[in-house]
Amino acid sequence: MIRINENYLKLKASYLFSDIAKRVTAYTTANPDKPIIRLGIGDVTEPLAPSVLKAFHAGVDEMAARATFKGYGPEQGYAFLREAIATHDYIARGCPISADEIFVSDGSKCDCGNIQEIFATEGLKLAIPDPVYPVYVDTNVMAGRTGPNLEGRYSGVTYLDSTPLNGYVPAIPTGASDLIYLCFPNNPTGAVATRAQLEAWVAYAKANKAIILFDSAYEAYIRDPQIPHSIYEIPGADEVAIEFRSFSKTAGFTGTRCAYTVVPKKLVAYDLLGNSHPVHALWNRRHTTKFNGVSYPVQKAAAAIYTEEGKAEVKAMTDFYLENAALIRKAVVDLGFTCIGGDNAPYIWVNTGTDSWQFFDKLLNEAQVVCTPGAGFGKCGEGHVRISAFNSRANVETALARIAKALGK
Ligand code: MLT
Repeated sequence: MIRINENYLKLKASYLFSDIAKRVTAYTTANPDKPIIRLGIGDVTEPLAPSVLKAFHAGVDEMAARATFKGYGPEQGYAFLREAIATHDYIARGCPISADEIFVSDGSKCDCGNIQEIFATEGLKLAIPDPVYPVYVDTNVMAGRTGPNLEGRYSGVTYLDSTPLNGYVPAIPTGASDLIYLCFPNNPTGAVATRAQLEAWVAYAKANKAIILFDSAYEAYIRDPQIPHSIYEIPGADEVAIEFRSFSKTAGFTGTRCAYTVVPKKLVAYDLLGNSHPVHALWNRRHTTKFNGVSYPVQKAAAAIYTEEGKAEVKAMTDFYLENAALIRKAVVDLGFTCIGGDNAPYIWVNTGTDSWQFFDKLLNEAQVVCTPGAGFGKCGEGHVRISAFNSRANVETALARIAKALGK
């Protein structure tokens, strides 16, 4: 008799954004005459930049001719893209990262979900923020690293609370951890971490022989010059951190799919006897076994982001979403709420002080606007909703007018 992986039974029946999509579909089916505006899932709306598109087309044309056709590429990504990433995203910012430490992939969701596979299941001490991108928690539940969910929290996890009291940047735990998830600019709160805060995390990881999984999918939204874009801007972080980056929110690649993960060669993890093993070799083994690379035209398109033209075009795109974010921030503050995010991130985290699913339902039913209920990101998310700045200007303005009317202000 075939048996299931019973860890899956510990999970909520469906993924947060699938749950929301179901509620929205039910509403639109019942109310076909009421068009909704989606400020829920962080999905981009603006088309690919012209230079990206040009490179994408050129890549497709190369695939159409025998002389330039390409079959399997290197699993880790083509050298032209890995070199561009290392040069522009790391070396230019003084980070000690080289092209062969970069693994190109089809998304950070997959990478930050899959990375835990190369670490121990038994006895590994997990530290995960709350609220948090649900993938970090759920993939560890699937792997059997947690106990059951008791009143909204899995046993066996050290939750790092992000609340109004700590400015939504969690404190370092007092006990030991082995695998630490951090995300800055944060999803869902939009909070950023200062250099001093990141230095403290790196020191903590070193002291514990731990590894930080640093998700910086939203770094392109940082405008404050004091805020680090990469954990590797902190000296010594290449000995304790893996970084995830994505072109999804940087350049509108949510449908095109391209991202990368940095695994420095200095990073080690230990076996039961205490012998150290390079994590780069383990991830390379996993990646080459289970992944066959991102398509050539997509990698050509991604590389175009690093040309002078491409850089300016994608900066204009993130500027556009940040202008939306500023409008959203102003509107929610005018409505009397406190909020964070939206200045160095495309998300605004609104402290409504009320049940977050009820607030979600109110906005859906009375304003036909979709947000994301904070409780979906963890216990500390209760009393908050996340509003995404990813939409057209016209839709954001209409949504904000509808929200103001629905909330009676
Ligand atoms: C979100 O809305 O949190 C993101 O779009 C999810 C993701 O990037 O997978």
